[in-house]
Amino acid sequence: MTDPIKGKHILLGVTGSIAAYKAADLAGKLMQAGAVVDTILTKDAAEFVTPLTFRSLTHRPVITNLFDVDSELAIEHVGLALRADIVLIAPATANVLAKLAFGIADDALTTTILATRAPILVAPAMDAHMYDHPTVQANLHTLRSRGVTIIGPAAGRLASGLVGMGRMVEPLTLVEYVRWNLGKHGDLHGKKVVISAGGTEEPLDPVRMLTNRSSGKQGYAVAEAARDRGAAVTLVTAPTALPDPIGVNVVHVMTAQQMHEAVVNAVHGVDVVVMAAAVADYRPASAADQKMKKGPSDSMSIDLVKNPDIIGSVNGPFIKVGFAAETQDLIANAKSKVISKNLHLIAANDVTATDAGFGVDTNRVILIDRAGRIEELPLLSKYEIGHRILDRVVALLKPGA
Ligand SMILES: Cc1cc2nc3c(=O)[nH]c(=O)nc-3n(C[C@H](O)[C@H](O)[C@H](O)COP(=O)(O)O)c2cc1C
Repeated sequence: MTDPIKGKHILLGVTGSIAAYKAADLAGKLMQAGAVVDTILTKDAAEFVTPLTFRSLTHRPVITNLFDVDSELAIEHVGLALRADIVLIAPATANVLAKLAFGIADDALTTTILATRAPILVAPAMDAHMYDHPTVQANLHTLRSRGVTIIGPAAGRLASGLVGMGRMVEPLTLVEYVRWNLGKHGDLHGKKVVISAGGTEEPLDPVRMLTNRSSGKQGYAVAEAARDRGAAVTLVTAPTALPDPIGVNVVHVMTAQQMHEAVVNAVHGVDVVVMAAAVADYRPASAADQKMKKGPSDSMSIDLVKNPDIIGSVNGPFIKVGFAAETQDLIANAKSKVISKNLHLIAANDVTATDAGFGVDTNRVILIDRAGRIEELPLLSKYEIGHRILDRVVALLKPGA
């Protein structure tokens, strides 16, 4: 299993909003993710962006007119509707929302939407006053009640000069929504997964702390990969610079003790636990209430006390996966951790490498299981590493494994 977008037919509907230019970026991102993208532009969308833009980005014919006999796809709109694995309308105008809510089929896009049985995602974009209008709200309500997924809009500065609700959700986030929706019936459908991520922060005083170089990227990527295979995911995370992944229940913590408590609360009844957080082994024995002042002495020492061993202390009828970030004796250390922490699998990585480990988007890990079997993975994106770990988890979840 890999990215659920790969090879899927995505029908992209673009309507006459000022945000239509962002749909070109969206089409490009969907293509880069490996999708086959068919675009339908409304007549008014073509006032903002040209069909040629989408044709060039998607390498596919673009439909603008239902009655254009020269267009290969125009007469084939029902075939297009049936072939689509998912439909994404972005940006969606107030006008198209009304047409969809009432079943009006007066152009290529709305006709195709009535003919498809694929999941429909809609990303509205409009002026804040338009969005607030009771008619628009009622249409959105109708569409939601029929199972259409409405994404956004986001708040911010609008083309009209107003600040408010109405911005189209950013293309990268829309791609995430597509992934999540396409993966809903994947091989972790119905499974509950808890993942920890980030580097814990142990306060010394209100302005200082002990922490580590973990960026949280690998743990977040495992969470996204599990979500994209249909799992219900809880991500317990120490502070990171990353946005919360969509479609994931995110629990924010700061210290190892808080993470311990949150993980213990989250693991009840779950199927899989993946601990990717870099947890401080020790914390300052006490944190000062006020900022500590420089004293006359040339040295100072800090008393540290041991933190709870999170991964070692959570046990239950679930598959337990750990990470070992090492700077030396990688395999030997990881092998002993599999046993001492009672893990099914460990992902060991050498964090001294520049293209793998902390901070970067790629990783090179070695998977070691309870029997001591070693699988060396090549340099992969952290998302892909997440999938390779979950491939092993899925195999372990099978009865008799
Ligand atoms: C410059 C300009 C910007 C517009 N931006 C939006 C918009 O962001 N959202 C919207 O709902 N309508 C917007 N409209 C109005 C739509 O283009 C208009 O309702 C049109 O009929 C929509 O047609 P369609 O839904 O078939 O694409 C805009 C119009 C113009 C002239």
